[in-house]
Amino acid sequence: MRVLNLTVNGVNRTVHLEEGRVMLSSVLRDSLGLTGVKVGCGTGQCGSCTVVMNGKAVTSCTVLAEKAEGATVLTIESLSEGGELHPIQQAFVEADAIQCGFCTPGLIMRLYALFAENPDADEAAIAGELDKHLCRCTGYENIVKAAKLAQEKIRSGAVPVAR
Ligand code: FES
Ligand code: FES
Repeated sequence: MRVLNLTVNGVNRTVHLEEGRVMLSSVLRDSLGLTGVKVGCGTGQCGSCTVVMNGKAVTSCTVLAEKAEGATVLTIESLSEGGELHPIQQAFVEADAIQCGFCTPGLIMRLYALFAENPDADEAAIAGELDKHLCRCTGYENIVKAAKLAQEKIRSGAVPVAR
């Protein structure tokens, strides 16, 4: 049996992989119980399974588990702290950007990676990242509002983006 070693949400984890093709999304959900990672299309199209791997947003349904050997992975479960939402999460609540919520963890992790790298990302950069995600409920307007509100919260310095 193959063994995968990686750090997930700040904890070193060892996972025994089944034979055959195993994707990172399956490791996170099925082996580690991190069901905040949502799998929609399973083919890299919808963005719902997005996590942050080595500082970059990736669609975990397209990453072979072996490629995550030694990696540092963050999922939505890592963002709130002591019951306090991360500013990006809080912004989604305040901007009413969540309906069914299936797409939300992926969107938030995508924005987390963007703002950690560039808190001053302009509107085009934000739109370019949101474009990698499909939401069937909201019409996107409030998601864009949430992204901008999150940016204001992060800029105000009340809470650091990277925890
Ligand atoms: S489930 Fe991974 S991109 Fe759609
Ligand atoms: S809130 Fe339902 S898919 Fe986006």
